[in-house]
Amino acid sequence: MVVQSPLNAQPNAGAANSWVVLLGALKGGSGKSTAATNLAAQFASEGRRTLLVATDPQRTTENWIARRRITSAQRVKEGKGALPDIAFMSQGGEYAAEALLDFLPNYDVTIIDTGGFDSVEFRSCLLISHIFLSPIKPSAFDTDTLGKLHETVRQAKINNRGLVSRLFVNQAAPTSMATSKQELRELITDEERPMKEFEVLDTVLVNRVSHWDGAGQGLAQFEVKGASKAASELTSLYLDVHKLFDQISAAS
Ligand SMILES: Nc1ncnc2c1ncn2[C@@H]1O[C@H](COP(=O)(O)OP(=O)(O)OP(=O)(O)O)[C@@H](O)[C@H]1O
Ligand SMILES: [Mg+2]
Repeated sequence: MVVQSPLNAQPNAGAANSWVVLLGALKGGSGKSTAATNLAAQFASEGRRTLLVATDPQRTTENWIARRRITSAQRVKEGKGALPDIAFMSQGGEYAAEALLDFLPNYDVTIIDTGGFDSVEFRSCLLISHIFLSPIKPSAFDTDTLGKLHETVRQAKINNRGLVSRLFVNQAAPTSMATSKQELRELITDEERPMKEFEVLDTVLVNRVSHWDGAGQGLAQFEVKGASKAASELTSLYLDVHKLFDQISAAS
């Protein structure tokens, strides 16, 4: 697969104003859209101009945003106030990254949700992102894909040196949060096959049915009434991303 570097792509130029966070994995169903939609809503709630991009023909994110707009309009009718606005764009194909470059400067944060497979969109968006996040289920079927994912990220870094890549555990069993994270850390630091481009975030998302609450109305977990553990874990993920923004800003 040949992926050309988008012309004039300088992801870290002016980083503080136009962050690009990419969700991707080489395995389906790992939690990319869950993380992407919740992160977008969190950033929008801070008042940041937020763009959510889907490169995936599955339409998960597109459907979520459509439902969010219906819910928001209903709230306005009921006098409850609109939900924080998230701009949305569906952009597939080999020129996905080039097409996005024109829009990124208009937003404080862009969250890109890609499909759970190797794709030209995923590879090209790696070239224009500051942060790459990959949710990983604690299962060998999922972790088996990490070697190839690491190689893809390593190649992207030839053109996008500032790219920061982080894995996080999703759908951990409640009793093995710490173990799942530790095992993932051991896997990427294995002496025989270290994956030096990766680090594992502190946040672990547990397998919780409450993750399904709200998605049907286009809400993020923190927007659902009543504090849930799923909401606080996703907020922790958002705070991890905030810390990465600070670290990248401090280093540039
Ligand atoms: N921590 C969790 N606990 C319970 N269910 C979860 C959790 N994370 C994700 N899910 C559920 O798992 C399913 C897949 O999640 P999601 O759509 O976010 O994955 P994805 O990586 O975007 O999938 P795809 O590769 O198909 O795009 C969804 O039904 C979602 O609600
Ligand atoms: Mg998805």
